[in-house]
Amino acid sequence: MTQDPWHFARTALAGQVLGMFDTGLSSALTFFAPRRMGKTEFLRKDITPLAESRGWQVFYFSFLDADSRVDTAFVEGLAAFARGETWLARAGQMLDRISKVSGGAAGMEAGVEIRAGGKDDIKAVIHRLASTNGKVLLLLDEVQALAKPAHTSLVAALRTALDMHKDQVKVIFTGSSREGLRRMFSQANAPFFHFGQNLPFPQLDRGFTDYLAVVFEHITKQKLDQEALWRAFVDMGHVPQLCRALVERMALNPSLSLEQAKQALMQEVHEGRDYAQDWERCSALERLLLLMIAAGGAELYGVSMREQLARQLGVPEVAVSSVQSALRSLSRRALVFRAEERREYEIEDPVFREWLLTGQ
Ligand SMILES: Nc1ncnc2c1ncn2[C@@H]1O[C@H](COP(=O)(O)OP(=O)(O)OP(=O)(O)O)[C@@H](O)[C@H]1O
Ligand SMILES: [Mg+2]
Repeated sequence: MTQDPWHFARTALAGQVLGMFDTGLSSALTFFAPRRMGKTEFLRKDITPLAESRGWQVFYFSFLDADSRVDTAFVEGLAAFARGETWLARAGQMLDRISKVSGGAAGMEAGVEIRAGGKDDIKAVIHRLASTNGKVLLLLDEVQALAKPAHTSLVAALRTALDMHKDQVKVIFTGSSREGLRRMFSQANAPFFHFGQNLPFPQLDRGFTDYLAVVFEHITKQKLDQEALWRAFVDMGHVPQLCRALVERMALNPSLSLEQAKQALMQEVHEGRDYAQDWERCSALERLLLLMIAAGGAELYGVSMREQLARQLGVPEVAVSSVQSALRSLSRRALVFRAEERREYEIEDPVFREWLLTGQ
C-alpha cells in the first residue's frame, strides 16, 4: 500500500476506523498520542490508501506549523479539494470561470466566494463538499494548534458545519498535546465538547519491532535479535520513530551492537530536545512532582505524599493548594497530562519521562 519498505502496515486499525464511519456508528473521532508516536504515518500511509480504495475522497491537513495564516490556508486547501472533487464540480467551475471572465470579473475565485478566514467560508466549503456524491473523509492532523483564541471562530464554524453534514463528511482529528487537545475538545463551553469520540492512539505492538527486524535482515543480510529489539522499543517509551532510527542506524553501521546504537541515539535525542532547559525552569516542588509522576506515583495530594515532599524540600509542610498550582503550571507547559479516565497525572512526552527516570 505504500512505497516505504520500513512502514509497518496498521491495516486492522485502519479498517476498524473506516468500519465505524461506514456503518454510521460514528462520524468523527480524535486520536491523541504524544509526538512521534506515528499518528501522521497512520493517517497518510494506512488510512488514506485504504479509504481511497473503499471509495472515500480523502483530504489531509496538518495544523502543525500553523501560523496566524492557518485559517486561510486551511479554508483555501479545503476549497481547492472541494473544487477538484468530481468531474461535475470541475466542469461547473470551468463554466463559472468562463462566464466570470467574460463578465469582466477575472481573478475572482470561481463559484465559491472566498473571504479567507471568515466564518461563512468554511461552512460554504463543507456544504459544497457534502453536496457532492462521494463519501468525504477529512484528516485533520495536530488540531490542538487551533486551541488558541485567535481561531475560536473558525473552530466554532467548523464544528457547526461538520455537525450539519455528519452523514456525508467524516473526520479524524489527531493531536499530540493531550493537554492542548483536551482544552479544545473537553471544556464544557468549547465547540467540540462531546463531538465525536476521543480515543487514545493504540501503541504499536511486538508485530512492529519483529517487522523492522525482518526488513533489517532483508536489507543487510544480518541477523537482528527480535527479543532485544522489542525490549529496546519498550525502553524507549514505545516511540516508533526512535525504534526505526535505531534500526536504520544499525543498518548503516553494521559494527554497532543494538545496545551501543541505542545509547548513542538516546544521548542525541536528549541533547537535541533540551529537557535540561525544561528542568531548569521548574521550581523545586515541580521537579519533585515530575519525578514522582514519572515513577508512576498516585495520590499526589495525599497526606503522606505531602509529608514526603515537605521533608525533601526541607519545609514544615506543603499545602494541597501548592501541589495543585504546581500541577496546573506543569500542565500548562504541557509537561504533564492528567488522563481523565484514570484521574492520574502522566508525563506528556515518553522520552522526557525516560530522561527523568534515568537520572537526568
Ligand atoms: N507504522 C509505522 N511503521 C514504521 N515506522 C513508523 C510507523 N509509525 C511511525 N513510524 C516512524 O515514526 C516516525 C514518527 O511518526 P509520525 O510522524 O507519524 O508521528 P506523529 O505521531 O505524527 O508525530 P508528530 O507529533 O511529531 O507529528 C515516522 O517518521 C516513522 O519513522
Ligand atoms: Mg504528525
